Amino acid sequence: MPDIITLLPENIANQIAAGEVIQRPASAVKELLENAVDAGATEIKLFVNDAGKAMIQVIDNGKGMSETDARMSFERHATSKIKNIDDLFHIKTMGFRGEALASIAGVSQVELKTKKEGESVGTCIEIENSVVVSQEPVATPQGTNISMKNLFFNVPARRNFLKSNAAELRHIVDEFTRVAMSFPGLFFSLTSNGQEVFHLEKGSLKQRVIQVLGNNYNTKLVSVKEETDYLNIYGFVGKPEMAKKTRGDQYFFVNNRFIKSAYLNHAVMNAFSDMIARDSFPMYTLFIDLDPSRLDINVHPTKQEIKFEDEKIIYAFVQSAVKHALAQYSVTPTLDFELDASIQHSEAVSQPFTHEKQNSATSSSLYQTFTQKHQAHFINNKSDLEHWEPPSPAEKKSVDDTEKAGVANNDIQRTGNNFPSYIKDIHEIKINKKPSSEDFIQAHKTFILAQNENGFIVIHQQNAHERILYERFASAMKGKPIAIQRSLFPVTLELTPADAVLITELLPDLHLLGYQVEPFGNNTFVIQGSPADVPDGNEKGALEKMLEQYKHFSMDVTFSKREKLLRSMAWQQSVKGGTFLSEKEIKSLVEDLFECEVSNTTPNGKPVFLEFKKEELDKMFGR
Ligand SMILES: Nc1ncnc2c1ncn2[C@@H]1O[C@H](COP(=O)(O)OP(=O)(O)OP(=O)(O)O)[C@@H](O)[C@H]1O
Ligand SMILES: [Mg+2]
Repeated sequence: MPDIITLLPENIANQIAAGEVIQRPASAVKELLENAVDAGATEIKLFVNDAGKAMIQVIDNGKGMSETDARMSFERHATSKIKNIDDLFHIKTMGFRGEALASIAGVSQVELKTKKEGESVGTCIEIENSVVVSQEPVATPQGTNISMKNLFFNVPARRNFLKSNAAELRHIVDEFTRVAMSFPGLFFSLTSNGQEVFHLEKGSLKQRVIQVLGNNYNTKLVSVKEETDYLNIYGFVGKPEMAKKTRGDQYFFVNNRFIKSAYLNHAVMNAFSDMIARDSFPMYTLFIDLDPSRLDINVHPTKQEIKFEDEKIIYAFVQSAVKHALAQYSVTPTLDFELDASIQHSEAVSQPFTHEKQNSATSSSLYQTFTQKHQAHFINNKSDLEHWEPPSPAEKKSVDDTEKAGVANNDIQRTGNNFPSYIKDIHEIKINKKPSSEDFIQAHKTFILAQNENGFIVIHQQNAHERILYERFASAMKGKPIAIQRSLFPVTLELTPADAVLITELLPDLHLLGYQVEPFGNNTFVIQGSPADVPDGNEKGALEKMLEQYKHFSMDVTFSKREKLLRSMAWQQSVKGGTFLSEKEIKSLVEDLFECEVSNTTPNGKPVFLEFKKEELDKMFGR
């Protein structure tokens, strides 16, 4: 029998290995930006076309490479950053594997121009499918200019796996944001299809956070800063009132490297407990600096997961530091951060916040004001979610088909077999449950009591309105026009770059739903008109809230983009509990509700009304 094992050709080996490092355009962006940072650049410009699928280019003014290094840089395991195994435990650079450029060259067409300081000419190398196509001297400024075209041109299966441009661009914005956030002292820009999306002048961390996450955070950041022998923590947490429904704005950096850690996230959430609603997420950007020998970065190909020598200590530190910062913000002066040599005993670390201190903190008027404010939010949200149950797998599928089948019809199938036993037949409901008289009572500015043939029903006004709006919007999507009011004075909406990308994706559907919104450049949009139901002057807040809710739904992959938008809009525009309704308003709410295809549940499956049957009531009264 002949021997059967052979070594794979280098380009195939590179393609396979690239799968680990380069999964999508955003991974290449991350690698190229990190190389520029490692090269000591002070200005880093990123250009992408078609969300990086057509082209990704990074231009830096770093130290550049010699001709030989330029050629070497594309070899696998070729790096200037570590030399021996010991170096692995003292890594101060972003890169160290010597894999990124080899991987990139294995799956795209690369052109590298680079020149070292003081040299008169630079080097230009073109490489494709791991094969050098040309190499020649070139006139180029100091630094490195690398562009990669047609990512995965030679691995069609992987190219087909890429998501829509909007989705891939969002991934790119995420990676860009992470690198930009961890190096506020450097200039960064991001230009997408010729339009500059980010232009970040160098500045302080606070300035960078605001540049990236938006001006809203200007007065809403609480500084976190603790220095100990073991580690330093610094950065910002958002004030509790800035907590959002999505976990978007949460960043951990360890030695300037963005990492994902559910464990450390838990430490922050713990520090915030009692101050924010259970289902909301505080903003944080926290930097942990510690001796590199106390961690192992090399546990995951993308380096986003790392292993700490002692995770519990880090947890305790993070929790204490955040608690301390929050306590200082809510009641000053309060606690001492009692962490010095004794930090090794993590018990001591975990409880610098004693019960007496906590009591004194929580009884202060300032604390009360902001927790109460949040309490209101909390209750609101809780009631929103109380009856919510995730759809069963079979049901999820039917939700997925929503767009094909028409939203409302599909909804009928969903509700039919899933909701409480008092809901049996949608059509029966329309005839039997509909109020028979027009005397309605609003109770607690939240419920509407109405008499019907069987007894009476209690309608939840917000749930009812959500259902009505959802169906109205669903028919708008199918071409039934929605009443629009033109804004007297066009309102401008300034968004974070990430939200600007998101809203751009939604613009066509928003138009159908009555929002006349136009891009105005620089992440700004102009609202020319809004649905007639949105009170004049409120269109900006309404859209912002809707985006927030949309992101909340975005975590749920089972809904189509449109379905998420419909639900977000319906929720956002619905009249909330606690709102007084005039007789006329109540009447039209009830009428509209029973005109709905499905009147007994909200799009999310919460009951819209409860029925109390006359005979059952009689029984209760012993009759
Ligand atoms: N923008 C740049 N400026 C200067 N030198 C660079 C630049 N990009 C890459 N290099 C050089 O090329 C080498 C290979 O880069 P590559 O990204 O493949 O590996 P690495 O950064 O060392 O490690 P990793 O695979 O973890 O990123 C680097 O070690 C560095 O010496
Ligand atoms: Mg690298």
